[in-house]
Amino acid sequence: MDKSDFKYSLEVLIPQEELKKRLEELAAEITRDYKDKDVLFVGILKGAFVFMSDIVRRVDIPGARLDFMMVSSYGSGTVTSGNITIKKDLEMNVEGKHVIIVEDIVDSGFTLTYLKKYITNRNAASVKICTMLDKPDRRQVELVPDYCGFSIPDAFVVGYGLDYDEMFRQLPGVCILKIE
Ligand code: IMP
Ligand code: MG
Repeated sequence: MDKSDFKYSLEVLIPQEELKKRLEELAAEITRDYKDKDVLFVGILKGAFVFMSDIVRRVDIPGARLDFMMVSSYGSGTVTSGNITIKKDLEMNVEGKHVIIVEDIVDSGFTLTYLKKYITNRNAASVKICTMLDKPDRRQVELVPDYCGFSIPDAFVVGYGLDYDEMFRQLPGVCILKIE
């Protein structure tokens, strides 16, 4: 895309300070629920890279491990379909581990439904979902995240790891993107 003819505006939906406050609460919940368990956090690239980094530094579980996966859903832009492919697989053996999938946002629910099944089938002891954002109005399959930062309305958001065409991931807060 030629940047010069891309006209857009950004409206802050969740400022950095609010994200931080919620992070502390989520981390406390996870610490309480998983203390003494063999925990593996699996961050979903690229979108979850900021949230993953923020949450794992606040959770207090000695010996917790980290891994990453990268998936893509068929199609591009703002539309997702149920057609998911793995672009980067797990490196760690999840067998017997309590896995927490860390995701930026749940939209249709296809990605996390797929990933939860995928990791469960590799004999994890348990698999739960931790997402910073949820758009429940957009759900196409039944899926309720176990830990959720914020439920948001049906709008396209960027920042805090989330992109539009690989842009805006570095914004510190969550913003609604409007393309003119
Ligand atoms: P799902 O499979 O439809 O739940 O899609 C989840 C993925 O779609 C997320 O991991 C994001 O990459 C992308 N996505 C969904 N909504 C948004 C949004 O508002 N902004 C940026 N990416 C989004
Ligand atoms: Mg994503």
